[in-house]
Amino acid sequence: MAKGKINVAVENIFPLIKRFLYSDHEIFLRELMSNATDATLKLKHLSSIGEFKENLDDVKIEVKVDKKGKKIHIIDQGIGMTKEEVEKYINDIAFSSADEFLEKYKDEKNDSGIIGHFGLGFYSAFMVGREVEIHTKSYMKGEDAAHWICDGSPEYTLKKSKRTERGTEIIIHIDDDSLEFLEDQKIKELLLKYNKFMPVPIKFVLKKLLILSIRQKQQKIKMVKKQRRIKK
Ligand SMILES: Nc1ncnc2c1ncn2[C@@H]1O[C@H](COP(=O)(O)OP(=O)(O)O)[C@@H](O)[C@H]1O
Ligand SMILES: [Mg+2]
Repeated sequence: MAKGKINVAVENIFPLIKRFLYSDHEIFLRELMSNATDATLKLKHLSSIGEFKENLDDVKIEVKVDKKGKKIHIIDQGIGMTKEEVEKYINDIAFSSADEFLEKYKDEKNDSGIIGHFGLGFYSAFMVGREVEIHTKSYMKGEDAAHWICDGSPEYTLKKSKRTERGTEIIIHIDDDSLEFLEDQKIKELLLKYNKFMPVPIKFVLKKLLILSIRQKQQKIKMVKKQRRIKK
C-alpha cells in the first residue's frame, strides 16, 4: 500500500473547491460522466484499430445511488487505469489543474462560467463528497486493479483493489451538506440535463420503480418497468 501526498501549493484544496464552486455543485456528475465516456470511447478506439479484441457492443455507464450508505457510484467499462496511471493522471495532472484553477481564481467571485472552461474535472467530486474512492482496472492484461482513496486533504492512499472487471468505479461519499444528491429524482434530472446525448448508454435504476435508460442511438429517453430488460 502506498500513502502519498499530492503535490500542491494550497494546503487543503477541497474546502476551496467547495467555496468557489458553490453555486454549481451539480456539475460534478457531468464531469464524472464525461470522464467515464472518454474512457469508454478510448477503448472503442483501441478496438477499432485492432489493439483490443473483446466485444464492446454492450458497454455502458452505470450510476447507482446508495441513499442509506450516502454514496454515489459511477461505473464504467472503459479503458481503466493502472496504479501508475492513477498516480500520473489523478494525483499529478488532475490535481495540478485544480490547484492552478484555485491559484488563478482565488480572489474572484463565484463564476460558474470560468469553471466550465477550466475543466476542473475529476476533483469536482469533492464539491459534494467528503471522501472519494476510485477502483480501477486497466484494459491491459496482467495489471492489478488499483484503489485510490482521498478524504479531501492532499493525502491519499493507493493500494490494490479487488476489482476484477475492466473499467473504473468512482465512489463519492456524499457530504452532509449535499444530501440532495442522494435523491433519485435529482440524479435523474441531472442525467437528463447534461447527459442526454452521450455516445455511451447510461443505466440508472430508480429505486423500486423504473429503469431510466438514456439511449443515444435514437436520441430519445425511454422509461421502462424494472422487470423489463434494457434492450440495445
Ligand atoms: N473513469 C475514468 N477512466 C479512466 N481514466 C480516467 C477516468 N476518470 C479520470 N481518468 C483519468 O484522469 C484524468 C483527469 O481527469 P479530469 O480531471 O476530468 O481531466 P480531463 O478529463 O480534462 O483530462 C483523465 O484525463 C483520465 O486520464
Ligand atoms: Mg474530465
